[in-house]
Amino acid sequence: MLRKPFLLFTLALFSSFQTGEEKGLKIYFERDFLVGTAVNLPQVMGREAGADSLLALHFNSITAENGLKWALVQPKPDQFDFAFGDAFVELGEKHQSYIVGHTLVWHQQTPKWVFQTEQGSPLDSASLAQRMYQHIETVMGRYAGRIQAWDVVNEAFEDDGTWRKSPWFTILGEGFIEMAFRKAEQIDPEAVLIYNDYNVWKPEKRAAILAMAKNLRANGVKIDAIGMQGHYRLDFPSLAQIEKAITDIHEAGFEVHVTELDVDVLPRPSDSDGADLNINFAASPKWNPYVDGLPQEVEEKLVKRYADLMKLFQKHSDKMQRVTFWGMHDGRSWLNNWPVRGRTNYALLFDRDKRLKKGFWEEMN
Ligand code: XIL
Repeated sequence: MLRKPFLLFTLALFSSFQTGEEKGLKIYFERDFLVGTAVNLPQVMGREAGADSLLALHFNSITAENGLKWALVQPKPDQFDFAFGDAFVELGEKHQSYIVGHTLVWHQQTPKWVFQTEQGSPLDSASLAQRMYQHIETVMGRYAGRIQAWDVVNEAFEDDGTWRKSPWFTILGEGFIEMAFRKAEQIDPEAVLIYNDYNVWKPEKRAAILAMAKNLRANGVKIDAIGMQGHYRLDFPSLAQIEKAITDIHEAGFEVHVTELDVDVLPRPSDSDGADLNINFAASPKWNPYVDGLPQEVEEKLVKRYADLMKLFQKHSDKMQRVTFWGMHDGRSWLNNWPVRGRTNYALLFDRDKRLKKGFWEEMN
């Protein structure tokens, strides 16, 4: 008779100890903003042990890391593959997450055929517009009412604020952005429509983005938010530069979403400070110094950097809807392969064993 209450008491003690230990990010920042993570194919298919419980405890938003990009969702003309997308949306619904689609119109991870005739010559503008519309109708339309926000256009500007000379721009002119947003609103009027880019902390780039967004709005186009990707480094850009970006976007009348947060701890072979997928360097041990583990002082710097960033975002929580990390844990970070392939990076808040990095809560207090 005595055994059962004793067991229950022990269990209760154990579980309260567990909750105390494993405070969830999403609860901690509940009154500030949503806390999201990018998810990939093994994770949405339930093939990564521990990913589901990490998601449940810490995150209330998910973004498709790759599976809704054009090359994956429409690899060939009129051939759509929704295996990832369907599982992704089901996962989000299971966890009652704020679900983010990434991305409809981008120059990367978009097959060459999109911009070419069958003979391989550049497509005329009417045909490219048609392809863009069909893509948005089919992909966004399939999940209308189920995906809450979309990165409608990704990375249309260079860092100096000039238009990126992508095939979208070259064939359709700068109007391609307006076309994409108008179509997106038509397909799902309820969805939050985002323009997303990296290095939004750079004044020239941000000015160009905000001028474009205000102009769209003045033309009656629905554009709700500016996504700051947030691919940062240990001591760069400064908190002041990031803060200025947040307040400028807010003053211009747009929501701020941090869409792809990570902090690169590795040296860069050049002074490249963005997230341009075209940049790639040959692998060499020189650029991969921490294969056997991150030195403690670097880890401490990283944790401090994350705490500083999160505190800055909290300070501006009235302007921020969401902070999304670009991957659940270090083992899944794209920065293991960019801008140099095959490195061991430590760019996220969770390590390869899916443990929150030590000292984070202490730094937050
Ligand atoms: C990255 C993915 O994380 C990688 O897995 C993929 O190989 C390349 O793309 N900016 C973006 C994201 O908007 O889509 C990119 O994601 C990272 C840079």
